[in-house]
Amino acid sequence: MSNTLFRTKNVEQSILDTEEPEHSLKKSLTALDLTVFGVGVIIGTGIFVLTGTAAKNTAGPAVALSFVVAGVVCALAALCYAEFASTLPVAGSAYTFSYASLGELPAWIIGWDLVLELALGTAVVAVGWSGYIHSLLDNAGWQLPEALSGRDGAHGFGFDILAAALVLLLTAILVIGMKLSARVTSVVVAIKVAVVLVVIIAGAFFIHGGNYDPFIPKAQSAEAAGNLKAPLIQLMFGWAPSNFGVMGIFTAASVVFFAFIGFDVVATAAEETRHPQRDVPRGILGSLIICTALYVAVAIVVTGMQKYTALSVKAPLADAFKATGHPWFAGLISFGAAVGLTTVCMILLLGQSRVFFAMSRDGLLPRFFSHTHPKFRTPYRSTILLGVVISVVAGFTSLSELAELVNIGTLFAFVVVAISVIILRRTRPDLHRAFRTPWVPFVPVLSVCATLWLMVNLPAETWIRFAIWMVIGFFVYFLYGRSHSRLGRHQETTVEEVVHPPHGTTE
Ligand code: ALA
Repeated sequence: MSNTLFRTKNVEQSILDTEEPEHSLKKSLTALDLTVFGVGVIIGTGIFVLTGTAAKNTAGPAVALSFVVAGVVCALAALCYAEFASTLPVAGSAYTFSYASLGELPAWIIGWDLVLELALGTAVVAVGWSGYIHSLLDNAGWQLPEALSGRDGAHGFGFDILAAALVLLLTAILVIGMKLSARVTSVVVAIKVAVVLVVIIAGAFFIHGGNYDPFIPKAQSAEAAGNLKAPLIQLMFGWAPSNFGVMGIFTAASVVFFAFIGFDVVATAAEETRHPQRDVPRGILGSLIICTALYVAVAIVVTGMQKYTALSVKAPLADAFKATGHPWFAGLISFGAAVGLTTVCMILLLGQSRVFFAMSRDGLLPRFFSHTHPKFRTPYRSTILLGVVISVVAGFTSLSELAELVNIGTLFAFVVVAISVIILRRTRPDLHRAFRTPWVPFVPVLSVCATLWLMVNLPAETWIRFAIWMVIGFFVYFLYGRSHSRLGRHQETTVEEVVHPPHGTTE
């Protein structure tokens, strides 16, 4: 039985599968498209919203260092993702990588886990987007009925009609085609990056040096003592839960990590890239470096503009400009955030539909969903199914409840990918790797340790939710995926032929 649970799909077979006409995707993306895609999905709710929460509650001005910590963790993981994506340019990212190295059950676990990152991430960002639209509508004196404004703050029934509508609209764009979505993305990314640059450049003139004092505020004991909201590491070692201080930098890093989610999604588009071996690593590392530099600069500027204790938790960048007497900039930033969050949502949805597509092509989910559209060559069935489900979830989602769950799901995928790099180097040293992770196994091992460190800095209750989701995944695999796996069926047929050859030579 353990043999079948850890059966691996060989790399050549994965690449061959992508060439079946009915199940193949169009190859149209370049390194620049991928970098734009990366920046498009990375800059979002994290920098526009979570910077304020993290600075105010856990790190103070040192939140800039939290961004550095999270950026380093992501860079280590990116080096591992880049090797895999350049070796195995097949839709499905971490799912496909682990199918090739660790085996079917671990691959399933990762695919299931990626739902937390991508589908839930889409819903969370859609809700964040709707918040910005609401604030822009408010400025214009318009308000939606409370029942259609979402769950946060609603009395009784609350459905976020804007978030749900956004997801459906993006679904339609993705069904029509990658090239269109890449074009839409470039325009939006340009607006978003311009707004972030405005924050950095204009904001630099309003910095007041006194706001950086203290840069790392003294540790303060937190009320969360002993309850499940405290970071797991504090409960594990029986430490008194605290905020700020040096440990606060790490706690904040596990939260602002959300701001980096997405560079790994670039790998999910590998199969649709013209020269994946060269361009996917460029796209992944390029977008990550650009975003880290922008984030650290934004964090330094914003905490310099306003005392960290006074930062707003809903729209910290815009509100810092209001606080320094520049509401015009604040309006511009809100507009940029609202526009920018649409691409984050779209690319997370794109990533989710590709992972789902890859799992269904392998038979672990119904094969019906892996048919590509005869004209657009996009995985339209999985995209539509996911779009509809996610739009309902987005309608009923409370942003704060689910963001940390998205983080833990993504971090878990990082751990598995780093381990897979080491394993595939041993099991398939012969494979051509256009990009090689440097200093293997040192870098992947360091990546695992750094990622685990961020994970244990997440609240214990997030770990419990994560465990429940994974247990449900095991049930689904044993009830459906295991018996429908294409790889499993193929291996059974091969064994059958060896035991009972067609010409009956053993009889
Ligand atoms: N990194 C993306 C964001 O911050 C998910 O919204």
